[in-house]
Amino acid sequence: MKVLVTRQIPERFIEDLKTVADVEMYHEKLKAMPREELLNESQDADVVITMMSDQIDQEYLDHCPKLKAVINLAVGYDNIDVDYARDKGIIVCNTPDVLTETTAELGFTLMLVTARRIIEAAHLVESREWKGWEPYLMAGKDVYRKSVGIYGMGSIGTAFARRCKGFDMDIMYHTRSRHEEAEKELVAKYVSFDELLKTDYVVCTAPLTKETENIFNKEAFQKMNDDTIFINIGRGGHVVEEDLLEAVQNGEILAAGLDVLRQEPIKEGHPFLKEKNIVVLPHIGSATVETRDAMIQLCVDNAKHIVNGEEPKTPVK
Ligand code: DGY
Repeated sequence: MKVLVTRQIPERFIEDLKTVADVEMYHEKLKAMPREELLNESQDADVVITMMSDQIDQEYLDHCPKLKAVINLAVGYDNIDVDYARDKGIIVCNTPDVLTETTAELGFTLMLVTARRIIEAAHLVESREWKGWEPYLMAGKDVYRKSVGIYGMGSIGTAFARRCKGFDMDIMYHTRSRHEEAEKELVAKYVSFDELLKTDYVVCTAPLTKETENIFNKEAFQKMNDDTIFINIGRGGHVVEEDLLEAVQNGEILAAGLDVLRQEPIKEGHPFLKEKNIVVLPHIGSATVETRDAMIQLCVDNAKHIVNGEEPKTPVK
């Protein structure tokens, strides 16, 4: 059997995979496998370990007659046409659970960083513009005891809420179905989407689906308070970026912190780059060494199970 890995990962994982299959790896750390190469190399692959940057669409799936499984190195799988894969009998796996705490931690960090204007403040020092103490120098917004509205109360949303509890925040959430455990454990309150938009910190942790795409649009931003801070650790596709920019520029909301964008990496000249009230991170939600190791190991384990004819550990249901 052949396993294709579409990005460079540490050799020890490849050695592990080689105990059960022939392995081919794209030897690039920074760059996604060019489409043509991905299609060519996948043609005789039984299993492919993919990245979020690989588009696993109908064209791809039709192109790979032997393919048994697509294993995505991410908890999100909006880059994969899961329904079409299922119709073709191809298993899709992701990496849930192992990245939950790390991603929630990044989200919480981003909320603090945006609220307390940390990037701007560090830049003031770096650029030698800091002239001395002033009463309102880089004055931000408190997080402690403010209200937070979490959109999407899955495992990452719940882990985020747990951190909010430590800051004594008033926790609200909106999701497809109620989360009774979070309501009990965290005193989180289920609210309508419109009520959620009225909180101090609106935080998107949801997966991207047809229902959630573009949910943060002009109408949503207009319903927020003028001192609301919007945080997105879900997917760029949740947000209509022009509407967000307008909302920040017109003072309809205070600021935004984004770990994800519609198009990654950010394009040269993107207006967010000039907006000091929009903090953009390069999609590093799950980027700690421990968590990336765990995610890759889970992909390898899934691949080995499939090659051995066993049930994978984390198939997308
Ligand atoms: C995921 O796993 O979906 C994250 O966005 C990766 O950082």
